[in-house]
Amino acid sequence: MSFPDVRMRRLRRTEALRAMVRETVLGPERLVLPLFVTEGTGVKEEISSMPGCARTSIDLLTEDCREAADLGLGGVILFGIPATKDALGTEGYREDGLIPRALTAVKAATPDLTLWADVCLCEYTDHGHCGVLADGQVQNDETLDLLARAAVSYAAAGADVVAPSDMMDGRVGAIREALDDESFEDTVIVSYAAKYCSGFYGPFRDAADSAPQEGDRRGYQMDPANALEALREVELDIEEGADVVMVKPAMPYLDVIRMVKDEFGMPTAAYQVSGEYSMLMAAVERGWLDKDRVMHESVLGIRRAGADVILTYFARDLAKALS
Ligand code: PBG
Repeated sequence: MSFPDVRMRRLRRTEALRAMVRETVLGPERLVLPLFVTEGTGVKEEISSMPGCARTSIDLLTEDCREAADLGLGGVILFGIPATKDALGTEGYREDGLIPRALTAVKAATPDLTLWADVCLCEYTDHGHCGVLADGQVQNDETLDLLARAAVSYAAAGADVVAPSDMMDGRVGAIREALDDESFEDTVIVSYAAKYCSGFYGPFRDAADSAPQEGDRRGYQMDPANALEALREVELDIEEGADVVMVKPAMPYLDVIRMVKDEFGMPTAAYQVSGEYSMLMAAVERGWLDKDRVMHESVLGIRRAGADVILTYFARDLAKALS
């Protein structure tokens, strides 16, 4: 049967008909909001390259988190912007570092909100690399112990989820073992399993002041040309104990999200990163794109590609628009 017996437009005539046959549904519980935490009180510093996002001190952060909980978001993921940085990224794993203090405060204020903590050293090292350096090279095995210490200190402070984003080999296993040793066997690990070496992280690095001082991240983050390698990365992280696997960035890697979802059937996350957000917002600010439409459509596309969970700077506004 074909036209004129078949008319695809029949099911598009009313919103009720469209909703009835809609294949992809998006709710706030799928969205995780990234938040930048900084020292001080009463601080809310707008990030110029990421309109609508700010570096926020802990006292005001709890208000953002209350709103996130009230909107029914899947969670918030915290990134720390510490007052001091050093070669070993000490502030990233100190038990009373910025992120543990933020987690403790937010957990007390909003116990119903799922708290994620990004685990990486780049925001805390003075050289801006994701691990410790020797002879200008990022040292894989020496970094594992520090990442594991960070994960344990975050879990102890109230993180429900730890999310390693450093791309060191073996870090999921090292973190799982360290968490279990300290009786945090219920702490969830979301691994940034296929994290690409991407130009789309630019605004984040401004926000977190975490651009590498020398060199780049090609020696540990993935080559954008590769998709089969992403499947190997994901497989290894699953074997090491990842509960959820992530692809990052999202929009330029929708094929990878689909492959990962089809191949492993795992709970799969995708990160619509800073550059994806900023390029849309820049066009929105010029009046070239309609914000409500493109934030919805872009996140819906990521979900349709196979992501169960989407980390996005649009999470708050999108949840409002969906309600
Ligand atoms: C830390 C980390 C980065 C992002 C998330 N975790 C920066 C990077 O790898 O350079 C990027 C997030 C974004 O761009 O929104 N390693």
